[in-house]
Amino acid sequence: SNKCNRLVDVGRRQFMRGGAFAVAGAAAATVTSAPAQASPANAQLDYPSNRLANIADLAVNEPMDIEYPDADSPGILLKLGEAVEGGAGPDGNIVAYSVLCPHKGWYLTYSAEDRSLNCPGHFSRFDAEVGGQQIWGHATQNLPQFTLRVDAKGDIYAEGCSDLIFGRPSNVL
Ligand code: FES
Repeated sequence: SNKCNRLVDVGRRQFMRGGAFAVAGAAAATVTSAPAQASPANAQLDYPSNRLANIADLAVNEPMDIEYPDADSPGILLKLGEAVEGGAGPDGNIVAYSVLCPHKGWYLTYSAEDRSLNCPGHFSRFDAEVGGQQIWGHATQNLPQFTLRVDAKGDIYAEGCSDLIFGRPSNVL
């Protein structure tokens, strides 16, 4: 039918627009001068490797404020009581998350009681022990978790991110 054909047409236009965007993105990636980092699972972005702290700086269940991958992206670095999903370090218990709510960017606060991140905006909640999984709320994605690496001296580096940080067209700007 005509209606069907029109829908196919719209689909084709959107596909072509998507294609143009992908080509532009590839071109931009080619001219970037940042050194390549070992971050295979991070959608072809060159994430910076930033030292956040040393293991000795962390106490269980007391989050430390951090910024990653740049100063406009606040987060927390957190040592939990046991090994968890995405946990780094010898005990697999160190995690880091963005604290910008994926719904509309309000600042999340950490609840030590149940190891969750909570939004004062519209009350979304995220589980710090399960990779930032949304427990409840309006967001349409889990909380971005930062990929961590701990070296032999106990220095903790962030080197990637699991999901798109709120308000960004790309995590690395
Ligand atoms: Fe966090 Fe709306 S901004 S739930």
